[in-house]
Amino acid sequence: MHKIARTGLAAPRNVDEITGSRRLRRMRKADWSRRLVQENRLTVDDLIWPIFLIDGENRREEVAAMPGVHRLSVDLAVKEAERAAKLGIPALATFPNVDLSLRDQTGSEILNPDNLINRATRAIKQAVPEIGMITDAALDPFTSHGHDGILRDGIIVNDETVDQVAAAAVLQAAAGSDIVAPSDMMDGRIGAIREALDANGFQDVAIMSYATKFASAFYGPYREAIGTSGLLKGDKKTYYIDHANSDEAIRETEQDLAEGADMIMVKPGLPYLDIICRLKDEFRVPTFAYQVSGEYSMIEAAAANGWIDGEKAMLESLLAFKRAGCDGILTYFAPRVAELLRG
Ligand code: PBG
Repeated sequence: MHKIARTGLAAPRNVDEITGSRRLRRMRKADWSRRLVQENRLTVDDLIWPIFLIDGENRREEVAAMPGVHRLSVDLAVKEAERAAKLGIPALATFPNVDLSLRDQTGSEILNPDNLINRATRAIKQAVPEIGMITDAALDPFTSHGHDGILRDGIIVNDETVDQVAAAAVLQAAAGSDIVAPSDMMDGRIGAIREALDANGFQDVAIMSYATKFASAFYGPYREAIGTSGLLKGDKKTYYIDHANSDEAIRETEQDLAEGADMIMVKPGLPYLDIICRLKDEFRVPTFAYQVSGEYSMIEAAAANGWIDGEKAMLESLLAFKRAGCDGILTYFAPRVAELLRG
């Protein structure tokens, strides 16, 4: 070991002595070489765009907690679907803000074949048949208490909720939905929906299970968007997964796949990359993440304050999902990213 001149201290070994001849910075030295060795890439084909619906015509309301995100009446949703298709976004996911007068204890409006979700599906599929439609099969936009299930004596009753959600899934399929996505975490919902779809001739309608939906604080802005934040009493811990758990997420997913899920989703996204990674390793099935409202709002808020570069943070967060093993991402950034990626 040589000495650092004058100090008499032992000098650290030469870098090549430590690394051999390996120098990882060689491939990082230029844009061309970084592009050449890049392992993961985000493309427009990875995007699913969640959009919020409201009744009426030519209505467009910004969601205060989600700058840049709007609730749209069906006619304007059709326009956005046309724009999405032009951008090459493969699919939309719709979430309704249902008029308060239509919400009740059991969420019965979900069984109206002409409810807001189904009207939007029909209109979009008619105007833009080439875009994939993913519909949310859950009661929370329709209940007067904001829970995802039928509430009786303070309890979310599982099996009755499942029956209702399965019936709603059939109506959604009849309206033209390509993928039914139950987000309520009731036990047995995937099997019941599969059976109901098949019994009604909808063998080709797929199921994306919100396989691992965690009880999370990151859903706040979404609840404002669909108008459940003022209604919801208590929390959803008796049906969403405890966010301390990871093995349980494996068991949930195993169950949903056994019951017939075609694709699985992890929600929220970024704080749960470990779950995505585990599920992809374990099951090797089409795996998606939902970059939820709170994640979107955090990036937007920090960017609006000039604290981060919003565009870069958006792209980095989405690429992280790909690196973790996702096949695609539900993200409110979808149109913006698509525009960027298309130059
Ligand atoms: C409930 C549902 C939630 C979201 C979509 N559907 C969570 C909730 O309100 O508890 C969250 C989506 C988001 O935050 O972007 N079925």
